[in-house]
Amino acid sequence: MSGQKSRASASVAATGWSRPRRIRICPSILSADFARLEEEIARVEAAGADFVHLDVMDGRFVPSITFGPIVVEAIRRMTRLPLDVHLMIAEPLRHLEAFANAGADHVTVHVEAVSDPAPAAQAIRERGIRAGLAIKPNTSLEPLLAALPHLDIVLVMTVEPGAGGQAFLEGSNRRIAAVRAAIDEGAHDCLLEVDGGIGPSTVAAAAQAGADTFVAGHSIFRATDAAAALRAIRAAVGPP
Ligand code: DX5
Ligand code: ZN
Repeated sequence: MSGQKSRASASVAATGWSRPRRIRICPSILSADFARLEEEIARVEAAGADFVHLDVMDGRFVPSITFGPIVVEAIRRMTRLPLDVHLMIAEPLRHLEAFANAGADHVTVHVEAVSDPAPAAQAIRERGIRAGLAIKPNTSLEPLLAALPHLDIVLVMTVEPGAGGQAFLEGSNRRIAAVRAAIDEGAHDCLLEVDGGIGPSTVAAAAQAGADTFVAGHSIFRATDAAAALRAIRAAVGPP
């Protein structure tokens, strides 16, 4: 442990964080070596990672269980990068306070796990955290598009949530393009994040479709050199 590190993200009150559009790469520690987590995170931080993506699973919303606020709080002390917390859990609003206290900078809940996305996003923002809404590959985009004015992040899942190392799903780029069109049409100040099967061979088409923020687990942490893998993904996006 290298002692308490303060959170680095800008104030939630600041606007325009998604403009001008720039590429953000967000390593998912799900595929990292948890026995050497601090070292793994330091390596990707030095290689230019933008956020650290943390996948919280509860064994209900998805079959697997990963970790909760106690581990997020420990990771908070390992890095200055913003912590991008992806809640794959049922009843996520019951746990917002705990993740806020643990030092999450962004909390993303699933549209399938909340009854009404707009108040859910407001509840996140009220805790001084950026609000994200995630959507599984087979869920209708309608409720998510309706919530865009309330969101800081839209997370389009490009695999079924629940596990790392799956293949990027065919058809995802059409969904990304539809969300991008709606964000641009409404001039919403919202990142378009994609998650699942992202690596040097899939990232360019997803960026072309309109994604700007890329979560990558296996392709970074299962590579021989995580830092080189991160840089390879950024290079594969190509010029803006
Ligand atoms: C899956 C998680 C992802 C996962 C991505 O449910 O939300 O963040 O770590 O892993 P890769 O990049 O290996 O598909
Ligand atoms: Zn994720």
